[in-house]
Amino acid sequence: MTREGVISLLGADWSRYEATLRGALRSDIDLLNSINSSLLENSGKQLRPMMGLLMSRSCGRLSEDSVRCAASAEVLHNATLMHDDVADESSLRRGRPTLSALIGPSSAVLVGDFWLAKAVGLIMGTDHQNQVISLFARTLSDLAEGEMLQLQKASSADTTEEDYLRIVYCKTASLFESTCRSAAITVDAPQELIDAAGRYGAATGIAFQIRDDIFDYWDEAGIGKPVGIDLKEQKITMPLLGALRNADDGDRWREMVRNIPEHPENCEALRRFVLENGGLEYAAQRLNDYVDEALSALQLIPPSRERECLEELARYNAIRKI
Ligand code: IPE
Ligand code: IPE
Ligand code: MG
Ligand code: MG
Repeated sequence: MTREGVISLLGADWSRYEATLRGALRSDIDLLNSINSSLLENSGKQLRPMMGLLMSRSCGRLSEDSVRCAASAEVLHNATLMHDDVADESSLRRGRPTLSALIGPSSAVLVGDFWLAKAVGLIMGTDHQNQVISLFARTLSDLAEGEMLQLQKASSADTTEEDYLRIVYCKTASLFESTCRSAAITVDAPQELIDAAGRYGAATGIAFQIRDDIFDYWDEAGIGKPVGIDLKEQKITMPLLGALRNADDGDRWREMVRNIPEHPENCEALRRFVLENGGLEYAAQRLNDYVDEALSALQLIPPSRERECLEELARYNAIRKI
């Protein structure tokens, strides 16, 4: 199933989602409106709302609240990307200059704040606002904690796989989990389905970030954002953890990560170390474990065309190229 296939299956529900998204971001400040319009024009994959809407339809009867929660997830995701590109000093996003590169980091943070506030606004007033707000509030604190733990681990270069998985859960999977849980909550699904939706979202989110961390070791153009950034920032991700498992002089390589600020040339040596020591293969294996976990969670949800799409979206993580 292609992206167009998912959108055509979602039909009018997808159009309602798009209209809700646009409506929520309107402002009477022209500068903000024009920035928001150009951000919406180059909108990215919109995987989270797709998953949310498919999950609502798999677990019950999709409601107005389902559409608002799906839109909220996408708005929140975009806000975190604006902030992330400032934190990562990244110049390219979705094949174009980042907002931070275009209007400066301070203004990009403000636009991110506006989107964050609108994400909350979309949930307010829904029948399920208390449950959903508490999920999304938890996700926001997870995001900040994940980024802070990542920062803390960058200077000590002692990241274990357990630390890495905690970081990835917090910075990426938590939002996938909240999106899928809230999608089930908005159709008043029974608790078992809400929990299965959450398990699916969390596992899919971890697989998604592992794939993103694999991209960072690629040298081919076309993923629409810079590569090699993680090592520059001393981030020890799954590919490097895999190579470290396979090597018997791991401490030496960790020392090289610690010394990156004084010796930026270490990045290239570390990249080669990962490629030559099965780091990408190990990361791909672990990614597949999470795809399997997502598929097993889906088995608890009644079969439907929507559930098949969710299966395909989980599998897509293992092969996606952007
Ligand atoms: C990028 O997310 C940030 C990560 C969590 C790795 P996406 O790849 O979903 O970004 P867009 O919205 O499709 O550009
Ligand atoms: C994901 O981490 C960031 C967020 C969840 C906001 P990355 O820093 O790896 O994401 P990209 O690579 O910039 O998209
Ligand atoms: Mg980044
Ligand atoms: Mg990345």
